[in-house]
Amino acid sequence: MNGLILNGSPHRSGDTSYITNRLKEKFNNIEFKELFLYEENIKSCIDCRYCWKNEGCNIKDSMEIIYKDDYDILVLASPIYMYNMTPAMFNVITRLNMYWSNKYFLKKEYNLKKKTGILILTGGGNGKPKHALEMAELTFKILNADFNINTNYVYSLHTNEINAKDDKNIDKMINNIKIN
Ligand SMILES: Cc1cc2nc3c(=O)[nH]c(=O)nc-3n(C[C@H](O)[C@H](O)[C@H](O)COP(=O)(O)O)c2cc1C
Repeated sequence: MNGLILNGSPHRSGDTSYITNRLKEKFNNIEFKELFLYEENIKSCIDCRYCWKNEGCNIKDSMEIIYKDDYDILVLASPIYMYNMTPAMFNVITRLNMYWSNKYFLKKEYNLKKKTGILILTGGGNGKPKHALEMAELTFKILNADFNINTNYVYSLHTNEINAKDDKNIDKMINNIKIN
């Protein structure tokens, strides 16, 4: 079994990465590949409309790893920026529009692999994660990942006061995760 972690934090040793590392330690039987999205520099969709007439996306970058769809677990991990996931994560999400355009204009169905979704959010405490949650749920839906918010949502939303590494609830939440 293998998993893909999309890490939307610009920090390799920040709050979000602390949690992804704890997750990898707990599920050390699973082979995880972690993409640090700020380093991968995945471009935003620019509505070039290539995918209206052609299969796939015209932009060639690390998005190929996501399009390859060869993983059983999808982890979306992001700090909250202005109530939402970070711009680097949002770039990835815009590129999923290709699936919609290919289906609508070309009648191309992708039948993506069924996977388990896990969401990790961190926040300083200045805002509610409503928009980030909605965006994550949309992403899981497009990529055919089952996401159970009651078991597979790990969060640390007061990092201004308590760093994720001192947040006692993280391990409990990670222990609660169910992988199908
Ligand atoms: C530009 C910016 C916007 C932010 N917006 C929010 C927000 O809306 N709500 C919130 O709770 N925290 C917000 N934060 C705080 C970060 O989510 C928080 O510091 C987080 O722990 C950073 O995670 P990291 O160490 O993995 O990068 C914001 C931080 C930055 C830099």
